[in-house]
Amino acid sequence: MVEHPDVFPLPGLPGEVTIYEVGPRDGLQAEKQIVDTRTKIEFIRRLRQAGLTAIEATSFVSPRWVPQLADANQVLAGIGAPDGYRHPVLVPNQKGMDRALEAGATEIAVFVSATERFAKENLATTVDGAIEMAAPVVRQAAEAGIPVRGYVSMCFGDPWEGRVPLGQVVSVTRRLADLGVRTISLGDTIGVGTPGHVRALLESLGAAGIGMERLALHFHDTYGGALANVLSGLQCGVSEYDSSAGGIGGCQFARSATGNLATEDLVWMLTGLGIRTGVDLDRLIQISGWMAGKLGRPAPSRVVAALYHDEVDEPLF
Ligand code: HMG
Ligand code: MG
Repeated sequence: MVEHPDVFPLPGLPGEVTIYEVGPRDGLQAEKQIVDTRTKIEFIRRLRQAGLTAIEATSFVSPRWVPQLADANQVLAGIGAPDGYRHPVLVPNQKGMDRALEAGATEIAVFVSATERFAKENLATTVDGAIEMAAPVVRQAAEAGIPVRGYVSMCFGDPWEGRVPLGQVVSVTRRLADLGVRTISLGDTIGVGTPGHVRALLESLGAAGIGMERLALHFHDTYGGALANVLSGLQCGVSEYDSSAGGIGGCQFARSATGNLATEDLVWMLTGLGIRTGVDLDRLIQISGWMAGKLGRPAPSRVVAALYHDEVDEPLF
């Protein structure tokens, strides 16, 4: 049985990639069945043991909008802040920032939309309104020395508005960059992007003065294109990718947003390309198998489906 790919590098790709794990936040946020707080904390602890160092832990959004993450305080307290790990939390507005700071957050992520309709569906505001909501939060974080990541959603298509012009994405990304957001993650919220589209967007951003070192890519795998899109991103020089363990996830505020690109599928391809990630694939597969048991259905990840052995799901710690 082949449990790891052979290594055949392609020229011109980065030697190392940062994997930004979103399973505990993007992966769980749309789960209807409330996952208990202890399981969420254990999930994050196990992900750390698998070598993931940047793990988005939860979000301080309205618990009325996202009941699953109403325990953000307890999750953050439960996971601690060990050296060498980043645990950003999603913050939509000042109220979320106040809650996050009180809970001891050490890194935050703000989020805006490239489209008007999703700004309304996801944040009850407009594109401008979302940026205005993020601005004081970003300023406060800068004053407190807290790093800020930013997401732009619906960069490749929108379930209501359809095509999203490149210029629209560039303009919103530019505004986030001008606020001082360190890394901006371009979200293919509904998974409709294709590799040429990824390149066209990255080239437009580059032409607008936004360097690849400031960008990350966040693919949902609805149409199975996420890995091809990562390869396109790598060829353009982007070296940070968001993914969720097991490929769990979605967004209840956007029709047809299914799971994120699975971290295992990403690690498999990067390993085969000889690109370092620091992730222990075998361990991660076991963790996703364990989490799938908690969620009551198989993990969407192809690699987990191929390689998970539930007979060896002994406690890892
Ligand atoms: P709103 O209903 O307009 O809020 O929602 P409001 O300002 O009118 O306040 C209403 C009530 O909510 C008030 O309480 C506020 O205090 C409270 P009341 O006075 O009625 O008792 N409230 C809050 N409570 C706790 N935490 C807060 C908070 N804010 C207000 N932060 C709001 C506006 C922004 C709050 C809402 O739209 C919201 O929470 N949206 C977040 C939705 C979300 O989490 N979506 C998923 C994450 S984004 C995503 O998945 C995309 C991404 O993965 C990238 C990609 O794939 O593209 C990042
Ligand atoms: Mg997402």
